[in-house]
Order: sequence, then C-alpha cells, then structure tokens
Amino acid sequence: MTPTPRHLLITGGAGFIGANLVHHVAEHTSDTVTVLDALTYAGNRASLDGLPKDRVTFVEGDIANPDLVDSLVKQVDAVIHLAAESHNDNSLSDPSPFLRTNLEGTFTLLEAVRRHDVRFHHVSTDEVYGDLPLGTPERFTEHTPYNPSSPYSATKAGSDLLVRAWVRSFGVAATISNCSNNYGPRQHVEKFIPRQITNLIDGIRPRLYGAGANVRDWIHVDDHNRAVLDILDRGRIGETYLIGADGELSNREVVGMILEAFGRDAEDFDHVPDRPGHDLRYAIDATRLREELGWEPRYSDFAQGLADTVAWYREHEDWWRGQKAATEQKYARTGQ
Ligand code: NAD
Ligand code: TYD
Repeated sequence: MTPTPRHLLITGGAGFIGANLVHHVAEHTSDTVTVLDALTYAGNRASLDGLPKDRVTFVEGDIANPDLVDSLVKQVDAVIHLAAESHNDNSLSDPSPFLRTNLEGTFTLLEAVRRHDVRFHHVSTDEVYGDLPLGTPERFTEHTPYNPSSPYSATKAGSDLLVRAWVRSFGVAATISNCSNNYGPRQHVEKFIPRQITNLIDGIRPRLYGAGANVRDWIHVDDHNRAVLDILDRGRIGETYLIGADGELSNREVVGMILEAFGRDAEDFDHVPDRPGHDLRYAIDATRLREELGWEPRYSDFAQGLADTVAWYREHEDWWRGQKAATEQKYARTGQ
C-alpha cells in the first residue's frame, strides 16, 4: 500500500497493459485513478469491468486534445502514459495514426504536465533500440543507441526523445521505461500470443511469420506493471529503466508451447509471409531496475503463465469474440 493515496491519470487504461495496471492499482493501493482512453479498435471498455466506481473514473477522449488533457492533468498527482498505437503490422499498412497519437499525443501530455508541474511516467518499448543478432549474448541496456525499424518503433522512439527534452529543457519530473513483449489477459487478438490462442479455439492453425526463428523476450504484464509503479514511486527523475524478465524464446518455441497447451502436435502450424523489416531478436538487461529499485519478476515459469493466459481466453470469449473477425480480415489482406 502507498502511504498517501494519490490521484493518478492513466492514459490508455482500456488497452491491454493499461487495463491490467488499473486493476493492479485498484487492488494493491488506495490510489484513485482517472482513465483517459479514446476507445480505438484496441480499447475495450469491458476490460475495466468490476472496478470500484468510487476510485476509478473513465473518460473517453483523445490524448492529442489539449483542452481535455489540460483539464484532467491539473486534477492529478501523477500521469502514467500508456496510450499509443501499439501494433507494428498496423503501422506498416497505415503509419498516420501512429504519428498523431504517439508523437502529438505525448507532446500534448508533456505540455500539460509542464504547465501544472505534475509527475510523469512514460511507458515505452525496447523496440526503440532496433534488434539484436540471433544467437548472441548481447542484450539491450539503457545505453544502447536508438535504432528503430518500423513506423511504430520510430514513433515510440520519438516520444521517448520528447520526454527527455522536456526533462532537460523544462525541468519536467519524468521517468521512462522500455519494456519487452508482454503477455497475459486482456491483450488484443491482433498480437502474437492471443492470435494463436483464439485461432486454436476457432480451429485455425497458428500462423508463424517467416521461419519463426525471431526471438522475443517475454514478460508477464503484471511484472511489467509492478516495475512501472516502482519506477513511479522510487525511480530517479530523468532516468530510463529497462524492464525485462529474461524470457527469451523464439516464435516457433512459443507456438509449440501454445499447441501443447491445446494437446496438439508441436508442428501443427503454418508458415505465412514474413513481416517487412521484421526485427530479429529483442533481449533486455534489467540490471538497473533490479539493483536500484529491488524489482524482481514473480512470473518465472513462462509455461505456467501461458497456460493461465490460454485459460483466460477460453473463459472470456465474450471479451474477444467481437474483435476476431475484423482482425483476421486485416491479416488476410497481407496473406498473414
Ligand atoms: P493497446 O493497443 O492494447 O492499448 C492502447 C490503448 O490506447 C487502447 O485502449 C486505445 O484505445 C488507447 N488509445 C490509442 N490512441 C489513443 C488516443 N489518441 N487517445 C487516447 N487513447 C488512445 O497497447 P498495449 O499493448 O497495452 O501497450 C500500452 C503501452 O505500452 C504502449 O505505449 C506501448 O507502446 C507500450 N508497450 C507495449 C508492450 C507490449 O508488449 N504490448 C511492450 C512494451 C511497451
Ligand atoms: P507481435 O505480438 O506483433 O509483437 P512485436 O511485433 O511487438 O514483437 O509479434 C510478436 C512476434 O510474433 C513477432 O516476431 C512477429 C511474430 N508473429 C507471428 O509469427 N505470427 C503472427 O500471427 C503475429 C501476429 C506475430
């Protein structure tokens, strides 16, 4: 429990990580929360069901709307900024909403926290660093140069740089975290793990881009969110913290584990055309977070976390069913 209850503004709180964060804050602190979310295709109001109404308020709106953002920021003690266009494949077919939300939206929030002197935490991705070669021990650190590959990661990199500039030039009290790939409940079915789980529920074989050798460094969403709150509470202003839980696996290995959870043969998947510019490998060195803030992941068993996630999608078909057909129609256009 935090000693003095705060009022937090959580942007993107109807999305995957944001909604899990709002549930975590409601359960483990006495803070109150205002969620600002535009409910794009990726936002789901149902992800916020069951929260205490006296402590969580939902506002539907755009983070790039200066008047709305100003009116909310001036009421709170801190902002945790997660709202974003977040899917690489979408950024390849239409980059424009990524520029508006990830760059202009972050700029709008920064101007408001600057005016009202409000603490700001910016949630970002390890994809700002580009990728690493397969089969090496190299990992990203806070000192790795930015080298984003896709319109998504380029706009996230740009938003990180805006935050750094607002810290240095205007003294904004901000921190940044760059996390690896999250998994867990309430993730949109366009993303790799929920797509394959819901495909299998629907009797469709999992789809691997290219050879499936690409490696991602998986972390459970609750471990990510606990790190974000640690950084908000105790992180050094102006610093960047990498968040990761030593969860490197190839896409092929992950699909094999999902198939196993369904009692299917590990080879029961199809190869589909690769993503253009597909990053090979991500891997996080989270030494700073572990040593400075004492954070440790709690989900050390990926197979168990994955089994829990499979169970969640089986039990919450009403949550994802409405997104599924449109998502698969989008993928059908690229043959993926
Ligand atoms: P998501 O796509 O599930 O959710 C994004 C949310 O932002 C949605 O609810 C959407 O409605 C909202 N949103 C989009 N545009 C908006 C706008 N203009 N105004 C207000 N709300 C808007 O994304 P996610 O996976 O939960 O990611 C959250 C954040 O974490 C993002 O900033 C992403 O870059 C970062 N991140 C994600 C991962 C991951 O593995 N998913 C890893 C590291 C960092
Ligand atoms: P994704 O969930 O889109 O996250 P990111 O691009 O941010 O890493 O994809 C994770 C990995 O899975 C990535 O290497 C692309 C791959 N992938 C597939 O092989 N098949 C799929 O159907 C999807 C959606 C992704």
